[in-house]
Amino acid sequence: MQAWRRSGRLLDHSPAIAALKSQWPISSYGLGCEYEQCRYGSTLTAKGAGNLVRKGTGGRSSVSGIVATVFGATGFLGRYVVQQLAKMGSQVLVPFRGSEDSHRHLKLMGDLGQIVPMKYDPRDENSIKAVMAKANVVLNLIGREYETRNYSFEEVNHHIAEHLAVIAKEHGGIARFIQVSCLGASTSSPSKMLRAKAAAEEAVLRQFPEATIMKPATMIGTEDRILNTWAHFVKNWNFLPLIGGGSTKIQPVYVIDVAAAIMSSLKDDGTSMGKTYELGGPEIFTVHELAELMYDVIREWPRYVNVPVPIAKALASPRELLLKKVPFPLPNPSIFNLDQIKALTVDTVVSENSLTFSDLGIVPRKLKGYPVEYLISYRQGGPAFGSTVSEKMHSSDF
Ligand SMILES: NC(=O)c1ccc[n+]([C@@H]2O[C@H](COP(=O)([O-])OP(=O)(O)OC[C@H]3O[C@@H](n4cnc5c(N)ncnc54)[C@H](OP(=O)(O)O)[C@@H]3O)[C@@H](O)[C@H]2O)c1
Repeated sequence: MQAWRRSGRLLDHSPAIAALKSQWPISSYGLGCEYEQCRYGSTLTAKGAGNLVRKGTGGRSSVSGIVATVFGATGFLGRYVVQQLAKMGSQVLVPFRGSEDSHRHLKLMGDLGQIVPMKYDPRDENSIKAVMAKANVVLNLIGREYETRNYSFEEVNHHIAEHLAVIAKEHGGIARFIQVSCLGASTSSPSKMLRAKAAAEEAVLRQFPEATIMKPATMIGTEDRILNTWAHFVKNWNFLPLIGGGSTKIQPVYVIDVAAAIMSSLKDDGTSMGKTYELGGPEIFTVHELAELMYDVIREWPRYVNVPVPIAKALASPRELLLKKVPFPLPNPSIFNLDQIKALTVDTVVSENSLTFSDLGIVPRKLKGYPVEYLISYRQGGPAFGSTVSEKMHSSDF
């Protein structure tokens, strides 16, 4: 193998790079990080994404000028963010760490060549630099609501975010950095994850003061992990455990509205830079009321078992105690997730003086109706049994 070709990457003394260097004497050509003093690909520095060069009518085959690296694109929110970026003609770099299956649903969301999956390792600085090299916008959607043997809450929700912000700042061409946090993230939260998210917000703003922080409430949508989890549990056990009687107040939000808020902030003239937005839905529910909505759509008779918080914690604790002690991975928690039980001991609603959807020009949708219609797949007799919620809403007798 020739000396200049190592691990499938071009090194700076390769003939190709030598030719490039003779034409443009800059320090690097965005082809990896082996070259000393990497400068990376993007040379766009603009205030907001508003100054980027745009072409076309604004649709999928246009050029929005945005080249976005979306960390966490393989997740629930990620698919809607990638879809909205791609449909306005942006190029989306999709860092992934799992199998090829983790991102293949994203590929069709954009024009040919616009969605670019790139394997990376969140612990390898060079691989992060490589996936950011050509970008002018970075979005961090990475997060996890439970710990694994490999990753602690702090590492996933805080350290990775800080690391991305440092690298984005060093890059020099990243015009916008969007950090997705959680509503309720605070240093005094009873939840370890929410404390880590709060630390991440602070760290990202310290490293990248122009970053925009989005704090969505619990997100609802086809792939959500709340109503789907409840409906699944109900189908298996015929009841739903209500932790602490389900009296905690939450403000669930439709996932597509959160993605739209992110787009709106990217498209503005830079006014959202350095700001934090709390993204809650238009209605406040108690956990019990949200469960009623789920029961209504799946057309089951509501049956609950009240689980007092100390008992819920006791049921959830063995996983946390054993996680790093047994030599094999434990199942991921769903309803009985110790950290989420702790988070549910306090109300999580949008605070009074915060910036919200209205500051981004978006009116969030009510959940009742289309946003929860995916739950009809849990109906007895199949999804086609009876009328759907949106049919009922549009009929005169509703
Ligand atoms: N879902 C909600 O209700 C909700 C509410 C408020 C805020 N949020 C926040 O919104 C963001 C997106 O949420 P989501 O529901 O889309 O999350 P998700 O479906 O769990 O997806 C999380 C993403 O983060 C990646 N990720 C997780 N652990 C990682 C690690 N150790 N290293 C690298 N990547 C890792 C996942 O990659 P893999 O596919 O490789 O695992 C996935 O792409 C998160 O920051 C979350 O905390 C979510």
